[in-house]
Amino acid sequence: MILQEEPRTHLNYKDEISRLKREMNAVILAHYYQENSIQDIADYIGDSLELARRAKETNAEVIVFCGVHFMAETAKILNPDKLVLIPDLAAGCSLADSCPSDAFKAFRSANPEYLAVTYINCTAEVKAASDIICTSSNAEKIIKQIPLDKPILFSPDRNLGKYLMKTTGREMKVWDGACLVHEAFSEKRLVDLKLSHPSAKIIAHPECEENVLSYSDYIGSTSKLLQFVISDSAAEFIVVTEPGIIHQMEKAVPNKNFIPAPPNDNSCNCSECPYMKLNTIEKLYLCMAAQSPKIELSTELLNKALLPLEKMLAMS
Ligand code: 13P
Ligand code: SF4
Repeated sequence: MILQEEPRTHLNYKDEISRLKREMNAVILAHYYQENSIQDIADYIGDSLELARRAKETNAEVIVFCGVHFMAETAKILNPDKLVLIPDLAAGCSLADSCPSDAFKAFRSANPEYLAVTYINCTAEVKAASDIICTSSNAEKIIKQIPLDKPILFSPDRNLGKYLMKTTGREMKVWDGACLVHEAFSEKRLVDLKLSHPSAKIIAHPECEENVLSYSDYIGSTSKLLQFVISDSAAEFIVVTEPGIIHQMEKAVPNKNFIPAPPNDNSCNCSECPYMKLNTIEKLYLCMAAQSPKIELSTELLNKALLPLEKMLAMS
């Protein structure tokens, strides 16, 4: 039995995971907010859109998804016949939690003439009740393709919704949800940090609140933030998103300096996503060895949720 074996070192996990990957014909997909050891062993690291695309394109028989539940669910919706594993089934998302499907359906019923454009950070049930899914990297492009006379419901992130209204010039009715990590960044501490690092550029994820975004030199999805620090001439960046992304930034441009932005809570300097960090290298190994936990959805839900995801992929 796996659980009775001697504790394993990271090196052992790495070897064991590689062996299981070969034996199972599996691909490991990881989001940038995963712990460094998981990022280092993944076949692909990406933002929500890139990971969805990788999941759709893979020839592997098994997808091991190191990210949060809605991301693994997306991989399953795109691959209904494949086994999709997640190291910790409890790795949820506060944004997805802020939009229960019954309340979302009532929101839609109260606004029957509206088109529902929904951020991918939501459950499969909410996806199934939406018209088009988007991510932070394609939302602007998708909204710009919607005819001007068609009113839009945008759910569930109010900060991303507000930001998109500004960048697209489009009025939208926005669901009142938010991410607990991105809404916790402190404007005051960000300004103090900028004063002590005047040449640093501020880069932020659009899930942050408007006051924090107003200081940003660049706003984008995790992948776009990574591309920006590679191509921009600045040598120092204040990073206003989950600090897991800094691992890839330091790998890509080791001569540059990355400073994680602090949250409001003065007792803590960490803005880690508690859900993303539920996945560990040990749980990754255990889920591959046991082929569990896995994502399970009814065929009806898989079919319904696929339509708005396919629209997203076609429009982005
Ligand atoms: P990205 O798609 O930009 O990686 O964002 C995912 C996410 O959950 C941000 O909090
Ligand atoms: Fe969800 Fe926020 Fe964590 Fe992203 S950082 S997975 S939006 S809780």
